[in-house]
Amino acid sequence: ETFLNERNVLQGKTLVVTAGGTEEAIDPVRFIGNRSSGKMGIAIAKAAAKLGANVKLIYGNVTVTLPQDKNIELIHVESSEDMLQAVKKQFARSDILIMAAAVADWRMKKVADHKLKKQADQTSLQLTLVKTKDILREVAHNKKDNQKVIGFAAETNDLLQNAKKKLQSKGADMIVANDVSKNVFGNDEDQVIILKQKGKIEKWPRMSKNQIALRLLKEIFEF
Ligand code: CTP
Ligand code: CA
Repeated sequence: ETFLNERNVLQGKTLVVTAGGTEEAIDPVRFIGNRSSGKMGIAIAKAAAKLGANVKLIYGNVTVTLPQDKNIELIHVESSEDMLQAVKKQFARSDILIMAAAVADWRMKKVADHKLKKQADQTSLQLTLVKTKDILREVAHNKKDNQKVIGFAAETNDLLQNAKKKLQSKGADMIVANDVSKNVFGNDEDQVIILKQKGKIEKWPRMSKNQIALRLLKEIFEF
């Protein structure tokens, strides 16, 4: 039966999946974060584990329950730099990287070692931020021929144009683009556009993140 055959279709495969948002410390009590819930990455991790894959789920700040699955190793990170190190380490012995995490683009040039105090006469505060390393780009450009790297593109405008640029500049095998101006964060559903190398573009109908996860895995592993 097809269903039974599909059950262990990813047996022997190792996937690294990132989920949630990174936290960039400002001082010991504050951080710069984002609205990612972690739902998409966790849905992908669960779907892959169910199909028999060995999953390394590297997660930052998530607002949903983490999966408990013998096929999923949970690795918690805080900052984008921690995520980069964890991804590099795990991807070295994996087949696929799926970067569903919302990685901070900026971090503090210098994290304050004391809680920042406001002064009575102070009316504004300037923080100096520096760019974080692009995990997807760095890993994609150093990957082996038999490894694949999949990224997401979160856009509020010019979705297709921006996603095309990301596919090229990051060197990813596939980009999953979504419009985050339309109440995606924390939602169980999403509508995505898949961009592959050689200019292949597919617009998928709106569906649950669980369905997107399964379809993505089918697309990646061709089963
Ligand atoms: N990403 C990453 N490392 C970063 C920033 C982003 O690996 N420092 C990954 C994300 O996990 C995602 C993809 O790159 O898979 C695209 O992220 P996105 O925020 O949409 O694009 P950016 O390249 O960061 O550009 P911008 O935010 O300016 O649109
Ligand atoms: Ca970004």
